[in-house]
Amino acid sequence: MTRLSPTAVLRNGLRVLFPLSVALTVYLYLYPIFSTCAFPLPPDHHGAATANTGRTAFVETAKVHWHYAAGTAENATVFAPSRPLAPFRLLALGDPQLEGDTSIPTDYLGVFPHASSLFQHLTFRSSHPSLRQRIRASLHDVVDIVLQDTFDLLESLRKRLDHLGNDFYLAHIYRTVHWWTRPTHVTVLGDLVGSQWIDDNEFWRRANRYWDRVFRGAEPVPDDVAAYPASEYDVADYLGGGAFNESTAWTRRIINVAGNHDIGYAGDITEDRAERFERAFGKVNYELRFELPLADSRSETVFDDARNPDPGSNRLVPELRIVVLNDMNLDTPAVSSKLQDDTYSFINSVINTAAAVDFKGHFTVVLTHIPLYKPEGVCVDDPFFDFHEHDGSLKEQNQLSVDASKGFLEGILGMSGDTNAAGRGRGRRGLILNGHDHEGCDTWHYINQSVTDPEQRRWEVKRWRQATAVGIVGRAELPGAREITVRSMMGEFGGNAGLLSIWFDEASWEWKTEYATCPLGTQHLWWLVHILDLVVVVAILLLGLAALLSVVGVNVDATVERSVVRLCTPRKKADTPLKDGGS
Ligand SMILES: *[C@@H]1O[C@H](CO)[C@@H](O)[C@H](O)[C@H]1NC(C)=O
Repeated sequence: MTRLSPTAVLRNGLRVLFPLSVALTVYLYLYPIFSTCAFPLPPDHHGAATANTGRTAFVETAKVHWHYAAGTAENATVFAPSRPLAPFRLLALGDPQLEGDTSIPTDYLGVFPHASSLFQHLTFRSSHPSLRQRIRASLHDVVDIVLQDTFDLLESLRKRLDHLGNDFYLAHIYRTVHWWTRPTHVTVLGDLVGSQWIDDNEFWRRANRYWDRVFRGAEPVPDDVAAYPASEYDVADYLGGGAFNESTAWTRRIINVAGNHDIGYAGDITEDRAERFERAFGKVNYELRFELPLADSRSETVFDDARNPDPGSNRLVPELRIVVLNDMNLDTPAVSSKLQDDTYSFINSVINTAAAVDFKGHFTVVLTHIPLYKPEGVCVDDPFFDFHEHDGSLKEQNQLSVDASKGFLEGILGMSGDTNAAGRGRGRRGLILNGHDHEGCDTWHYINQSVTDPEQRRWEVKRWRQATAVGIVGRAELPGAREITVRSMMGEFGGNAGLLSIWFDEASWEWKTEYATCPLGTQHLWWLVHILDLVVVVAILLLGLAALLSVVGVNVDATVERSVVRLCTPRKKADTPLKDGGS
């Protein structure tokens, strides 16, 4: 018999597992560094967006971390950041979709439901025509207890653990990326919870998980800050003042967007659902205006400069306008016409209070949930509409309709295919961010003004990469806007985080944007690392216990060996010799 030494097995196991778990843990907790994540940098003063921009942005981010970590120490200046970061850095997260009781059998069926039914049959509390039927029903229940309820219970336990792990996985993405990349603002682009049909109790349970676990330390945008568009307005804040390490109210706030799983599609949004969403996560329609204070060094005069206005200028004080829009009921038929009117009047107010298209210096970012229309094959999700049978209302949609999409491009952004339109139809600069399709997509919508026949002229769309490759982005006769559908942060989609930088280019008096992503990878790595860490910790504790016991004179190895030997030796009836009667 080989000598079995549990402490030696543990020690040898730890020799392999300990370094592995340390390495994986370090990787997991510093993944944005290993993946060289960073908010894209504005080009340097030579204006050249150099090759390797991603690398430069990462190095600058690292330098700033180093700079602050070193404080005022001597080496703080050695790695002093040399390029300014974008004044608006938006961490954009898509579709966390917190699941809950709807996928836990014991929550909607009860624990061992067939056991209580069996009890009813056996105690004659249920009615049956005959004893045979009573026995038959009881036997059915016995089968169901063994082959159904037990498995439902196990599945429920697994699901519960799964939800808990998933919450922490999402929290890990938010916390880690937020720490490393230092966004100035954060948005979650709809589908915060996984179902619009949950009752109020479950809704609030999920809302609490959202705020207390997944986005711990964050808070919704306060209602008095979330403004309704008006021609006289207060800015929500000033940009650029925020140092990299500064924690302003905005770095803690989350600009939540309402998705179909939060409030429902047009065919199932009710006022109750919209209201509980607003109480938990903030308003569904509002705007935020952020102003970038004018640099003292500028040579240009500005139309609405408070101190020195120049009525002849078409330059405005630089401003970012964030429009948070519930686009769930843009398309019809909707069940609540009041909520649909709310959305339409909100969009009209956004349009009516926008700067005239001839001005430069404002930039609109629309944050919404359902993406704009794109023909089949452009993104992973193709156009899809479904309607309820009972009342014909809108049941489901992958994208907005062509007309609703036009409302974004021609209404909010004021572009037109007609060169005789205001501002030659070039519209306002802007960008649209949304979620919904989980896969993500990055596109450029444009209209070809050279097509003279208005019947032939329509909005076209290409993948962003392709559009930039063929050089149609930014051409005067092809007004357009970028739409980024942010890939979901769920594990199945690689735990994605979007990093949108927006900065002001004084030379052209326009805002510029760039987008990068920072995926963590699927949830399996997160689970693996934490299970491995748990195994290592337990092994260390056991070894510590063995060491402690040997101090008081108990030899664990010997004790275990003795008991194993005792267990493994077949027991004979000690003194009964085999009778050799038979054969
Ligand atoms: C725009 O339309 C003109 C005239 O029809 C055509 O020659 C040109 O190729 C079009 N441009 C793009 C990018 O489609």
